[in-house]
This record gives sequence, structure tokens and C-alpha cells, in this order.
Amino acid sequence: MPITRKIYTLVVCIVFSISSGYASGPPAHAVASAHPLATAAGVEILREGGNAFDAAVAVSAALGVVEPYSSGFGGGGFWLIHRASDGKQVMIDGRETAPALAHVRMYRDRQDNVIKDASINGPLAAGIPGMPAGLVHLAEHYGRLPLSRSLAPAKRYAEQGFRVTARYHRLAGYRAETLRQYPAAARIFLQDGSPPRIGHLVRQEALAATIDAIAERGLDGFYRGPIAETMVREARKHGGIWSLRDLEAYRVIEREPIVTNYRGARIVSAPPPSSGGIVMAQALQILTAFDLDGMSNVQRKHHIIEAMRRAFRDRAVFLGDPEFVDVPVERLLHKSYLEGLALTVDPAKATPSTIIGEGPALLQTGTQTTHFSVIDREGNRVAGTLSVNTLFGSCFVATGTGVLFNNEMDDFSIKPFTPNAYGLIGDEANAIAPGKRPLSSMTPTFLETPDRIGIVGTPGGSRIISMILLAALDFADGRLPQSWVSLRRFHHQYQPDQVQFELYGLTEFEQQQLAGLGHELREISRRYGNMQAILWDKTENLLHSVSDPRGEGLAVIVE
Ligand code: DON
Repeated sequence: MPITRKIYTLVVCIVFSISSGYASGPPAHAVASAHPLATAAGVEILREGGNAFDAAVAVSAALGVVEPYSSGFGGGGFWLIHRASDGKQVMIDGRETAPALAHVRMYRDRQDNVIKDASINGPLAAGIPGMPAGLVHLAEHYGRLPLSRSLAPAKRYAEQGFRVTARYHRLAGYRAETLRQYPAAARIFLQDGSPPRIGHLVRQEALAATIDAIAERGLDGFYRGPIAETMVREARKHGGIWSLRDLEAYRVIEREPIVTNYRGARIVSAPPPSSGGIVMAQALQILTAFDLDGMSNVQRKHHIIEAMRRAFRDRAVFLGDPEFVDVPVERLLHKSYLEGLALTVDPAKATPSTIIGEGPALLQTGTQTTHFSVIDREGNRVAGTLSVNTLFGSCFVATGTGVLFNNEMDDFSIKPFTPNAYGLIGDEANAIAPGKRPLSSMTPTFLETPDRIGIVGTPGGSRIISMILLAALDFADGRLPQSWVSLRRFHHQYQPDQVQFELYGLTEFEQQQLAGLGHELREISRRYGNMQAILWDKTENLLHSVSDPRGEGLAVIVE
């Protein structure tokens, strides 16, 4: 009986906290993901004795099947992990790499103009996928169960199908035209060439076979042999440049997270090739110079916006794949540098971005990616943010494999200071080069104090970073994840020089006041983000697991 079980857990929790001060592990497991079937996959694996890492494999793979518009085997991701036995914290970097034939001008014509949509649609837009390698790495180095077990739910969803939701239907509408250009993709993701009806069953038999090959043969199942050969052949047939060598050469990299301290909280987040950890750490350090608590609501927002503006400026100039460019991490996070930046914040007015540096402007497009958070009873945890970049990635499926290719190449700076799909600009540090990883904004993050552990992340392109920043500030203020995921969201990214805010993100009064300080404001016509968060409160030994009310995710506690 569920009610009895709940009471039982509560009793156990109280005993825990009285007898031992801090509990050694949470009272249960918790999973929060963007899709109920992916959360169910995690629950299934935890109940079979898997740990948080096995659950992370199961949830990641399932998300790739049931949210094809967000992530998948043809995409990549970052898994920030914490191993309870020894406290090891690393980020598994499964970001896509540029193929060997990629070059700096590949999306420009002879006149050096950017070729419209060349980095967005079709296999030329796709980097070499890192998702399968990430899953294999997680399972082999940290998991307890064989891949054949942790991939089983995803394989089942692919084979037996999943039902189209209202969200799927809406998102497929945005990409139907491009999906129709690639019949193998249209057959799977559309219904007679149109967005499928709600309730329609999407079956992906070929993808199920690909998942099986990974389960049986690990890396070799995807990066060598028949599936690799088919992907390369199909990509080339449609203008792509992948080679077998590119696939064979793909490796995940374990990277040390970016760690910053903010008002007693330890924030552990994504290092380059993500920009998330550094941008957020910079913004938080700039904000430590101010007494946010003593400010009016509008002043507080003004200062947060100014911190975002400055941190995003450094993103545009300095950040890229650390294997290729020398990212000056120490300098960017140096106390005196950030104190200096804080001094340039004028409490009485907005600093025009042009004063901090040059750069053009463009609008963002609405797009997707996904996130999940998981913790097990031992205290192992994973924050995973996964992506194929924009909706349905490049819309290209390699016939016979079911693999939908990403369009992550667009995250490179395809021409200096030309905005990408998220309006982000960049320069040399993020220029295309063979084997290089495009700069990302994905920001899987742990929020830690001695008595509270948070696990958080969200999709949202460049706005990911500001959403996680707002969540981190809310955590530092002692609030619960219910609050972090529901916060009204606003954003500044240096260029375009405007405060973007979601529908209802700023009140009329706040808009008036911020405009009075010289901020240009732009309301996004919808609400954005899809945050999945977990909090383990060690003093009470309680777990909170929460999905963003804007999405259709499911967060559960698994007893
Ligand atoms: O890695 C990145 O920063 C992007 N490819 C993420 C895309 C994204 O979050 C789209 N979501 N709405």
C-alpha cells in the first residue's frame, strides 16, 4: 500500500537523522527526467539493483528514443557524475567532434557569406556522435549492470513504440518541412508527411537493432562495422563528410569540473568545451561583490543581468575546445579580475555591451535539448544534459540504422561574430577545426552545502546558463527545487544587447524600472526551459525530486 510505505520511509528517515547526524546516503533513490518513459526506465534499472550510473545510461538512452527532437544516439551530451565511495567528481564529455574533412569556412560560400541552413539541416551539419561512447563509458567504468540490461528499456521503447504527446506533435510541426526532405526520417517521425496525431505510435525498429549492437558489442557496435559503414555511406550520399576513421577515432574525455564557491555553497559544473561552468562561476563571483539581499527586487535583477552580460562577453572571446585553444580558465576565474568586472557595474544604469566589446545581434530560435537528474541510495549522482542541438537535430536519418544525426556543428562560430541558432557569437577560440568539439552551453550542475545536495540542469541553448545561475542563487538563498524549476526566467548574453525574458518572466513594474535603467527588453512569446532537479536534504534526510512545470517530465522518489 503506497500510503503505508510513505509513512514507513518517514519513520526511517527520522531514525536516521536522530541516530547519526548526517545520513551516509539518501533514504531512497530519485529520478527526474523530461519524459515519463525515460524516468520509468531509470526506476526499472534502480529496482533491478543498478546504481545511479546504470540508471543514467537507461534514462539517457530512453530519452534518445522517446524525445527524438531533443537528444539521441546520433547526438552527444555531458554527464556530470559524483561517485559516493570516494567522492570522485568528473564530467564525462560525450560532445560531438568535427569530422576530419571539416574546415573553418565549410559553411560559407565563395564570397565568404554564410550559406543559409548549411550548418542546420542535413548530414553536413552533424558532428561525430558522442552519446553511444558516453553510455558505454558510464556503464563500463561506473555502472554495475551490463549494457544489455541498462539499454533494455530504450530498446523496448524503440521496438514496441511510444505514443506521440502534445509536445511531440507541436515540435514535429516546426521541423516537418525539413524532415520531409529526408524520407528515412519522415517515415519514422512523421505520419503521412505530417506531424503525427497525439497518441500515434512511433516505432523505431532499426534504432532498436542499433541499440542492440551497442548492448552486445559496446563501442564497436556503433563506431565500427556495419552500422558505422551504413552511417558513413548514407551521410556521404546526402552531402555529408563523415568517414569511418572519424567514427573509430571518437573518444569520450573525463574532465575536471569547474568548481566555484558562492555564499557558503559549492557549485560544481561543466568545464570546457561547455561554457556553462565558467560563465556561471564568473557571474556568481561578480555578484559576490554586491549585497543582493539588501537590494530591491529590480536592483537585484539589474545586477544579475549586468553579471550575465560580462560573463557572456568572455564566453564569446575566450571559450572553445580546450584540446585546441588555450582557454585562460585561471585568469577568467581570478578573484581580482572578477572584482574588477564587478567595479564596472553601474547600479544606476545598464552598461551598453558595445562598451565591453563589439558584436552583432540576431534573434534566437526555439529549440530543444534535454536533461535528467538522478541519485541513488548510496549517494551516487548524475546530472546529464544531452542534445542533438536544434529540434530533431539535422533531420537526417541514416537509412537502416534509425540514427538521427545532430546539427551540433552550428554551435561552432561558423564565421567570426556571426550569431548561431541561439544568437551566440564567437571568434577564433570556437572556430571549426577537424576533431574539435563545438563550444556548448549545456550546464549539468551540482549545488552543494554541508547539509544540502542539489542536482540540476535544463535545455535552452544559451539561456541554459542563466537558468542554472538563477537556480544556483535560489539554492544559495535556501529555497527548494520546486522554486528553482518554477522561477520566472530572464537572460542576458552580452549580444544581442537586450534582456530576454520568458512570458510573464518580468512584471510590468520590473519591465518599466529596468527600461528606466537603460535596458532594452525583449519578451519571448512563450515560457522556456525544462529543468529537472533533485535535492537531498541531509539534515532532515529527505529527498525532493521535481520536474519543470513547463515540460511534460516526471520526477519520482524510488523507495
Ligand atoms: O550545446 C549547446 O549549447 C546546444 N547545442 C544546446 C541546445 C539546446 O539546449 C536547445 N534547447 N532548447
